[in-house]
Amino acid sequence: MKLAIIGTGNMGGAIARGLIASGSWQAADLICTAKTDSGIARILASLPGVQASRNNRLAARGADIVILAVKPWLIGEVIEEIRPVLDFNRQLIVSVAAGISLLEMELLLATPESPALFRAIPNTAVEVLDGVTFICRKNATDTQTTLIYNLFSALGYTMVTDEQHLAAGTALASCGIAFAMRYIRAAMEGGVELGFRPEEAARIVEHTVHGAASLLLQSGMHPEVAIDKVTTAGGITIKGLNAMERSGFTASVIDGLKASQ
Ligand SMILES: NC(=O)c1ccc[n+]([C@@H]2O[C@H](COP(=O)([O-])OP(=O)(O)OC[C@H]3O[C@@H](n4cnc5c(N)ncnc54)[C@H](OP(=O)(O)O)[C@@H]3O)[C@@H](O)[C@H]2O)c1
Repeated sequence: MKLAIIGTGNMGGAIARGLIASGSWQAADLICTAKTDSGIARILASLPGVQASRNNRLAARGADIVILAVKPWLIGEVIEEIRPVLDFNRQLIVSVAAGISLLEMELLLATPESPALFRAIPNTAVEVLDGVTFICRKNATDTQTTLIYNLFSALGYTMVTDEQHLAAGTALASCGIAFAMRYIRAAMEGGVELGFRPEEAARIVEHTVHGAASLLLQSGMHPEVAIDKVTTAGGITIKGLNAMERSGFTASVIDGLKASQ
């Protein structure tokens, strides 16, 4: 099976690197495109063994799955460019472009056939195989959906959902990466004030957050149950939690998520 990534920048590159690192795809089965010579040079440097090309038609023609990963405002011209070489009987089209609906894609493809189309919204942690990806589909069979689900599952947690949930999913998982980073940065700064060197504080906080998420993932516990386990009556943890809540911790997170939709 061959995969074409049309537009191999931050997200296209993260997907390609993740797929190869996961072992689910061989570099030789990927063809990655970019617009400029410097884009091609970046692909060749960061993705050894893949075929790099500026020719979108060549890339799309030979692929079983075509992932469109250019900026949203370029999706129209890229679809127009590759449309003549697409064969909807054997190829699946996946767009990762934010804000381009499945209906818009179908209209851009302008074909009397009902092509199997997918939208995928991965977050940047797909590169380290610990991402979150939402998938929506149109005209796709369950078998085709399983194929695309399995592709992204190699890169982390994957959920098939409907388009109405994509904005909320993007806020939680894609913007969520930045929100989690901001907590990490804040805790690091606190750690330095408490007496650790910056690099020590960074490692401590990174591992603490990673450990907290692993505890929940492995046990299925609700976070409040996990909090109860580390909260002694009258102890320091509850004092810290309550001080954070007085500064609006939970409300700030919810406000931020709602503002990001
Ligand atoms: N970054 C994220 O967290 C994230 C998350 C979910 C979805 N997305 C979606 O992913 C898409 C790409 O975003 P990005 O952040 O990866 O952008 P990016 O880093 O700018 O990458 C875009 C890539 O597209 C290439 N390109 C531009 N025009 C092209 C054309 N006509 N034919 C072929 N390739 C072309 C560029 O080539 P050059 O390098 O040569 O200029 C570049 O490699 C967007 O639609 C975005 O909504 C991003």
